[in-house]
Amino acid sequence: MINPKILVTGATGKTGGAIVTQLLAKGWPVRAMVRGRDARSDLLQRRGAEVVVADIFDPGQLMDAMRGVQRAYYCPPYHPFVIQSASAFAAAARETGLEQIVGLSQWLAGPNHPALLSRQHWLIDRMFEALPNIAYTAVTPGFFADSPYLEMMPFAAHLGVLPLPVSGESRNAPPSVDDVARVAVAALLDPARHAGKAYRPTGPALLTVTEMAAIIGQIVGHKVRHVRTPLWMFYKGAKALGREPFLLSGLRYWFQDNERGAFAVGAPNDTVRELTGKDAEDFETIARRHAALPQSRQTFRTRLTVFANFLAVPILPGFDPVRDLIPWRTTAHKSSPCRRRHVWRSPTRTGRRATGVRGH
Ligand SMILES: NC(=O)c1ccc[n+]([C@@H]2O[C@H](COP(=O)([O-])OP(=O)(O)OC[C@H]3O[C@@H](n4cnc5c(N)ncnc54)[C@H](OP(=O)(O)O)[C@@H]3O)[C@@H](O)[C@H]2O)c1
Repeated sequence: MINPKILVTGATGKTGGAIVTQLLAKGWPVRAMVRGRDARSDLLQRRGAEVVVADIFDPGQLMDAMRGVQRAYYCPPYHPFVIQSASAFAAAARETGLEQIVGLSQWLAGPNHPALLSRQHWLIDRMFEALPNIAYTAVTPGFFADSPYLEMMPFAAHLGVLPLPVSGESRNAPPSVDDVARVAVAALLDPARHAGKAYRPTGPALLTVTEMAAIIGQIVGHKVRHVRTPLWMFYKGAKALGREPFLLSGLRYWFQDNERGAFAVGAPNDTVRELTGKDAEDFETIARRHAALPQSRQTFRTRLTVFANFLAVPILPGFDPVRDLIPWRTTAHKSSPCRRRHVWRSPTRTGRRATGVRGH
């Protein structure tokens, strides 16, 4: 029997990229959705995926992307109007007769959460659940091991610090991106079994941030100390790394939740083993992968670069919700290189005046 093709959105991103890799490895045909053609989409194509260019906010382009597939992974982008992308996705799914959506959500998703993204995740889950004749499965992880914790690996490897704006006692059993993807893939391969379910993948052990620093230290061969960074300083560094302003607007709340123990509730669990038949990857295994990346390897050049970047952080521009989020209203789609047939754009001046975006 020929396996049906699966649409994967966010195919150049963390979870989408891992899902494409895993589906192809299992012999399932994949249609990888990307924002534009570039070296990353070429690589997806060379690895065997069919590549389709579409904007996740554009219902017409989504319909084109969905034609001929029955199952899809929905990856919500970090965007203040993310729920609009989900509405477009739902409309296109109904129009084209999609039979299953597996969506990435959050452990912290809730109707009253202070982060706008977490509130929108909750609404998106409710909207997808209510779609008639479409099986919906939500994957609801807490903070991944890979992001934010191990994004700090270059600082740990070269400078011996793990800078994060939380207390060292904050706990999580963070899953790897690959395990989050494995759970999504399990759901995609068996829609009937997983319809109507929500799965929270975790890592195998609850760890404090201090313990994570110690594990990283064993891998890089010298002591690594967790340093509680002021939020404003963390934002400067994250912004310099190109993190989306809307992600930054939510991070402060999620770090507070981390500190208050929200990720320790119900963790660790057996979700990864139950759905995939394999144990969840432990923090050390995931950290070893990050330590092997070029930016964390022990060369004079990378050490100098990381040191210079670290020293520059305090003088970099910080995150300003008004300055950084308002432009989204008027430029969100302008950078998209895909066809603009269905794209709505507001007049710049009106858009700026009318926007009342505050902290989130
Ligand atoms: N990190 C965590 O700890 C964590 C925990 C729980 C839940 N989550 C959820 O994870 C989600 C992000 O998933 P991720 O980390 O896998 O994604 P990611 O690495 O941030 O990548 C986002 C993907 O979406 C694509 N994309 C963005 N805007 C698009 C548009 N307008 N049209 C088409 N594609 C677009 C990006 O394309 P380009 O590469 O071209 O930009 C990229 O492929 C968020 O909703 C977040 O709430 C994250």
